[in-house]
Amino acid sequence: LQEEDNNLSQECKQILSSLPKEKGWAEPNLYKYQGFWYPSWQFQGVVESQKHFQAQDSDVFLVSSPKCGTTWLKALAFTIINRSSFPINTSHPLMTENPHQIVPCLELDFSSKNDQFYTSFPFSSSPRLISTHLPYVSLPNCVQNSLCKVVYISRNPKDVFISLWHFMNNLRESHLSSNSKEEVFDMFCKGVSLFGPFWDHVLEYWKESLKRPKKVLFLRYEDMKEEARIYVKKLGEFLDCSFSFEEEKEGLIDEIINLCSFENMRNLEVNKSGKLPSGVEHKAFFRQGKVGNWKNELTHQMIHKLNCLSQDKFHGSGLQI
Ligand code: A3P
Repeated sequence: LQEEDNNLSQECKQILSSLPKEKGWAEPNLYKYQGFWYPSWQFQGVVESQKHFQAQDSDVFLVSSPKCGTTWLKALAFTIINRSSFPINTSHPLMTENPHQIVPCLELDFSSKNDQFYTSFPFSSSPRLISTHLPYVSLPNCVQNSLCKVVYISRNPKDVFISLWHFMNNLRESHLSSNSKEEVFDMFCKGVSLFGPFWDHVLEYWKESLKRPKKVLFLRYEDMKEEARIYVKKLGEFLDCSFSFEEEKEGLIDEIINLCSFENMRNLEVNKSGKLPSGVEHKAFFRQGKVGNWKNELTHQMIHKLNCLSQDKFHGSGLQI
């Protein structure tokens, strides 16, 4: 543990040392906390936000398991909510900022040591748009109990695995030897992946969206790719900023879709060249942006295994992804 992260507080080190651990994909270890797996460097943020973060009723949380379309959802939600203050033109914030710079991430950016998080919304702090990969069970209680809204984006686990595999290969600490695709596939299936088990993550939010549809909106990446207009409108309604008849007639929904599209965003200079403070290159978030890329990358056995797992895990839930 000492080698992994010297910046961790004593408290976190103590908790981590008592948790089950497994070999990581891109870092030495993953730790199981409240049923889900985390690298040590994200753990401090998880514990700190659980203990100290204060939600406001007007907050909007954008939630996902990694690689389900977080970047796209950030771009869409920001643009929809702030369309009066930031009309779609060449000065729009997305033209010069990566979506992750515009919408902070709770477990990465929040720190109880300074209040900067609460004032670090660079373009608009009302409502506050905040992202997180935290599973429902581990959200700070104030998020569950306040009136704030949650938008969850899910994705087909076959595409998620492939996307995560490529992303983690970029992030792997250079001194670590690489894991084979087969090896990490087994780990993914066992639930040992960033914020995994993937299926439990999705299922928790799915169930909550059925129980409290005004609080949790459950979206699927594939649906949004196929019928973006419907889902942009749905997002507007859910976030209490429905599109007016005039806005629709003027083509605003299509303008938002085009601005936030994979092709447009990937080709913006900021996303071709910039880096996040964590060192991750912006371009790592724009790989293929397609549905079904798994067909070229998974073996028949892997496809069969993931299909069976999804059937098993989602059986009786009404959820199909
Ligand atoms: P692929 O690796 O399959 O291409 P996240 O944002 O949660 O990290 O997810 C990343 C995935 O979303 C990547 O999938 C990425 O290419 C895709 N993506 C990024 N921006 C997108 C956009 N504007 N529209 C659709 N997909 C996008």
